[in-house]
Amino acid sequence: MIEFKNVFKAYKGNKVISDISFTINTGEFVVIIGASGCGKTTTLKMINRLIDPTAGHILIDGEDISKKDLIKMRRKMGYVIQQTGLFPHMSIKDNIEIIPKVEKYSKEDIQKKTYELMEMVGLNCEEFLDRYPAELSGGQQQRVGVARAFATDPDIILMDEPLSALDPITRIGLQDELVELQRKLKKTIVFVTHDMDEAIKIADRICIMDKGHIVQYDTPENILKSPANDFVSEFVGKKRIWASPQFIKAKDIMEENNITGNGNLSLFKGMEIMRSAKDDALMIVEAKTKKIQGVLYAQSVPFDMDRTLPIKQVMEENYIYASPEDSILQVLKAVMKNDISSIPVVDAEGMLQGVITRSTLIATLSQQYMKEEV
Ligand SMILES: Nc1ncnc2c1ncn2[C@@H]1O[C@H](COP(=O)(O)OP(=O)(O)OP(=O)(O)O)[C@@H](O)[C@H]1O
Ligand SMILES: [Mg+2]
Repeated sequence: MIEFKNVFKAYKGNKVISDISFTINTGEFVVIIGASGCGKTTTLKMINRLIDPTAGHILIDGEDISKKDLIKMRRKMGYVIQQTGLFPHMSIKDNIEIIPKVEKYSKEDIQKKTYELMEMVGLNCEEFLDRYPAELSGGQQQRVGVARAFATDPDIILMDEPLSALDPITRIGLQDELVELQRKLKKTIVFVTHDMDEAIKIADRICIMDKGHIVQYDTPENILKSPANDFVSEFVGKKRIWASPQFIKAKDIMEENNITGNGNLSLFKGMEIMRSAKDDALMIVEAKTKKIQGVLYAQSVPFDMDRTLPIKQVMEENYIYASPEDSILQVLKAVMKNDISSIPVVDAEGMLQGVITRSTLIATLSQQYMKEEV
């Protein structure tokens, strides 16, 4: 766990970090994002003490890092610096193996790891290991930088815009790779980027900075749904949620407090309730427990059906439903596939939580095409 406690940093009296406090849990993937010059690199470098704070404390697993053995501490951290930082006079192989060699890992272990890491970042060993950094493209150098950060199996990995020079396809591939590695190896990763889509995709939590302050520190979902202030909504972009529709859940768009009916009522009464509520489906719930029992769809009641029959004999018992956590895409699919006008949202206990109608779906989905929120 990494804790920032009221950390300040000033250069010649000029404050670049003002009173930041936040915690990065062990095994968490945290992305720091913000405009150029807002203090991202400074924040990252304070974690491995390339920069010391002017005031405040940084703790790792409860211990103040200013009191830790610097060399030992740094060896447990991988670091990808903003401009790759490969040693120009060393081959790619030596660049990756430098710390493992200092640490006196066995030759076989080092070799195996180097091959693994090169494969992970998508570079061919035969082709690249003996070359020098200047003989690689910027993107290839960045990939070596990422590989090197993992070479000693560190607990904490600090990455300063490590994928910025890569083309979108390679970049997306490496993002996926990083997320998978982090889940598998339970590394704590602090990752700086300028790219909001990248942040949303890879982060457990995003730390948005502005002029040396933290303006919001939360999950991608919460940042998209409830930006802390105008700066964040401006920065994130109002329509960005549409790039991640998996974050729009059934519970976010459903209508609550729906009119419900009792299965013992007559079909006549049920049709009457729907007509006055201008609905074409009626959710039938059990009177005592409030559990949903079925759905009466107006369209499936034949014109000449005996209207004195109780609803429970006519309603759809094997009704299609959505769970509160289902995404809008899953809901849309269910509604289209089964050609239904509305779908109940039912929780794990079988309780009706709300209803989503086709018109709710259309209204929600069309927001992304509107100039202003309607
Ligand atoms: N050694 C230094 N002396 C004086 N000012 C500095 C020094 N290093 C950084 N700064 C200033 O501190 C502020 C934060 O810098 P930092 O490198 O942390 O920004 P950043 O968010 O990483 O920006 P970028 O996205 O451009 O990399 C900037 O205004 C920068 O000019
Ligand atoms: Mg920077």
